[in-house]
Amino acid sequence: MRKFLFGAFAALAFFSILLFQSSCTQQTEKKQMTQEEMIALGKYIVTSSGCNDCHTPKIMTDMGPMPDTTRMFSGHQQNEVLPPLDVSALGNQWAATTMSLTAWVGPWGISYAANLTPDNGTGLGAVTEEMFIKSMREGKIKGVGRPMLPPMPWQEFRNKTDEDLKAIYAYLMSINPIQNMVPQSTPPDKVGEVLATK
Ligand code: HEC
Repeated sequence: MRKFLFGAFAALAFFSILLFQSSCTQQTEKKQMTQEEMIALGKYIVTSSGCNDCHTPKIMTDMGPMPDTTRMFSGHQQNEVLPPLDVSALGNQWAATTMSLTAWVGPWGISYAANLTPDNGTGLGAVTEEMFIKSMREGKIKGVGRPMLPPMPWQEFRNKTDEDLKAIYAYLMSINPIQNMVPQSTPPDKVGEVLATK
């Protein structure tokens, strides 16, 4: 009887170890996403977080500005001429944007939405995953450069999980590279010159 009890106990212990191990393996399997899954998650996040609004040029329709689907995420277009604006009317209380929603003027000067496509020279091609995460967490261009200007909402996006930010990066690296050299931001004292009423 004693032997039987011991045997039963040993068998029970053996099976619980097996069960425990298999549940552990399942957990790690769940955490590890394939590259395709990462890209799909990234696409979902990017297309539901308004990145398009600022980072894609627009075409005018009867329903207002709509994203130009041939130039997705390529940022403010290098050949887009800013319409003139009387900046003295803005003062320090107003900000303004172009109809494309890619250029923004306010007390910080003029900011131009960045090219988020993986183009090497003009987009995020040379930005590593680590630099990208740093840029979104610390609000610095390329993760190491100058502070990001408004209205890039990094203060909200910084709260995304590591997994989400990695997925966003994976998706952005998977889209078509578009060559488009977004202009450098304009400092506040040069805004008048750039937007002078012609
Ligand atoms: C309300 C407008 C707006 C929205 C929405 C927005 N951005 Fe931006 N973003 C900007 C502007 C403007 C800049 C350029 C800021 C500067 O030059 O300092 C920028 C810059 C960036 C940069 C820096 C690029 C570099 O060279 O380091 C990244 C990365 C970026 N945005 C990613 C995103 C992603 C991803 C989303 C969506 C999850 C998003 N942005 C949504 C306006 C926006």
